[in-house]
Amino acid sequence: MQLLDGKYLSQQIKQEIAVQVADIRSQGGKIPHLVAILVGNNGASETYVASKMKNCEEVGMQSSLFRFNTSVSEAELLDKVRAINEDPGIDGLIVQLPLPDHISADKVMETIHPAKDVDGFHPINIGRMAKGLPAYISATPQGVLEMLSRYQIETAGRHCVVVGRSQIVGLPMSILMQRNTYPGNCTVTLTHSRTQNLAAICRSADILVAALGRPEFITGDMVKDGAVVIDVGLERVPDASKKSGFALKGDVKFDEVAPKAAFITPVPGGVGLMTICSLMQNTLKAARQEIYPKP
Ligand code: GUN
Repeated sequence: MQLLDGKYLSQQIKQEIAVQVADIRSQGGKIPHLVAILVGNNGASETYVASKMKNCEEVGMQSSLFRFNTSVSEAELLDKVRAINEDPGIDGLIVQLPLPDHISADKVMETIHPAKDVDGFHPINIGRMAKGLPAYISATPQGVLEMLSRYQIETAGRHCVVVGRSQIVGLPMSILMQRNTYPGNCTVTLTHSRTQNLAAICRSADILVAALGRPEFITGDMVKDGAVVIDVGLERVPDASKKSGFALKGDVKFDEVAPKAAFITPVPGGVGLMTICSLMQNTLKAARQEIYPKP
């Protein structure tokens, strides 16, 4: 078994990004600027956003955080998004999910200008990604592709089973893995909560992507010998022995699955760190107008 080491890879990618940002700076160009909007004070979202901002600073990018109380109206939030769309100093915008129930996440995503949508959640970016056109690809699936590619894992002709059909991970992951490119060319099965014989389908996977958000759901008996196992889950599970009061768990029961796998991602230290790198890579693309001209 070989670990797919997100910590090592993300450090390597961050160094590459830092060099590119330094080049822009030395040529007197505008430093890439990522803005995050955070509504409320969900503990996990606070941690993710703080980490996104910190990583931007570490590679020399500019980052700003706008916070709103949970009581903010949808109209006020949309006004802020529109103002950011029109601000030429800002290259990328993310609105951290989940949002409170009274705010439509779909409306917010559709209001972000596609050229600043570095999360790749706008329907235009999802549609362009599905057609294989240049687009912002959502950060987690892009991080998984980067991992497969940097570890030179063969994907063509292999059976990729994705567990979970979320719009931000499972669905785009399934589309990307079937594309006629590398990494891709897989035969893909997208499974979800209504799938029958899930364990048997997982056992037939050469590449298993667990993205359902249920701690340690994938057990040893669900994985074939020699499979590549990608664990996208990151859940807080109560644990009195930890100072924080919780332990971080993935969707895969690591101790059971790792001995069977050819490659496996740890949690933490796996996909999560790659997600942040993808977000910074997308922000760099936005600053360079590689996909769209500035709005
Ligand atoms: N919530 C969980 N993952 C993500 C993500 O990748 N982007 C945003 N904006 N919110 C999230």
